[in-house]
Amino acid sequence: MLILGLDTSCDDTAAAVVRDGCGIMSNVVSNQNELHEKYGGIVPELASRRHIEMILPVVTEAMNRAGTDFKDISAIAVSYGPGLIGSLLVGVCFSKSLAFVKDIPFVAVNHLEGHIFSIFLEATPAFPFLAVVVSGGHTSIYKVDGFGLYSELGKTRDDAAGEAYDKVAKLLGFGYPGGPIIEAIASTGDSEAISFPKALLKDSFDFSFSGLKTSVVNYVKRYPASRKEDIAASFQNTVIEIITKRTIEAAIATGSKRIVLSGGVSANSALRKNMKEKANEKGLEVYLPSLRLCTDNAAMIAAAGYHHFINGKISNYELNPKSYLPLGPAAD
Ligand code: KG4
Ligand code: ZN
Repeated sequence: MLILGLDTSCDDTAAAVVRDGCGIMSNVVSNQNELHEKYGGIVPELASRRHIEMILPVVTEAMNRAGTDFKDISAIAVSYGPGLIGSLLVGVCFSKSLAFVKDIPFVAVNHLEGHIFSIFLEATPAFPFLAVVVSGGHTSIYKVDGFGLYSELGKTRDDAAGEAYDKVAKLLGFGYPGGPIIEAIASTGDSEAISFPKALLKDSFDFSFSGLKTSVVNYVKRYPASRKEDIAASFQNTVIEIITKRTIEAAIATGSKRIVLSGGVSANSALRKNMKEKANEKGLEVYLPSLRLCTDNAAMIAAAGYHHFINGKISNYELNPKSYLPLGPAAD
């Protein structure tokens, strides 16, 4: 069974064809980095306009690379939230139109569920497991008891981890997205050079990164001549320690033996290494998607959409995108 997946939730226009929820036939992502780079962050209006230009070529490319035809597609799966509303609208409207014209059912997928499902394109962790989504818009921990069965254990109370990376990169005068740039700069810095505060909220699995960002701002103001490499490395070290510590605490508290990391920040090699080492020490298994599946893509949306489709959860033409869309106990 072939599912065509689409994602336009943020600044990447993505389409993919996936067989039986796990076999990637094609996975096309057109990023807009050069468009937003000079602003140090995403400009929503520019993002939506670029999606409108790119959606048809990207879907066509995904179909061509998969060597398939619309008559062989069983369903179209599309991200309908959370994300930038103007961006989401493009993917949702395009999917509805395509579904109508080609007479194909379509399925609404929560983008966060897509991130969690990215692992099923390469591995099959047994349920239950702990899923940690660390991206530009989210930093959340879920207990996953089965397909569609999610309980949120903690989330960020302010900035997402990726957002903190992007803001620190901008502050240091680097481009967008900041995560890969900070990672590269940090590799030549001293991660112990500066001791930034680690906000670990009491009696909660929530995160907070805005205080860390402010500390970096204050440090740069106070010591303008300090090495950017050391600032980047010390900042990254703090973020990684917070994410790893919270995740392991949550896994132990919920008796979860497996941890699945996903989202753009999970492409960070220092985070991957630290999480593996520390979790393995506690007897926990860590599942990491390959790098191209950590950041936004549509294969993960097709993978999640497949399970909705085989469970009969088909959407209707009244579907509207939602910028705020929490992942609940029984995702629809
Ligand atoms: O999952 P994603 O592609 O989009 C959202 O759903 O937000 O995540 C994008 C975020 C950006 O903030 C970017 O800076 C961050 O992921 N990111 C990284 C790395 N690659 C991407 N952060 C740290 N290290 C990386 N290697
Ligand atoms: Zn994402």
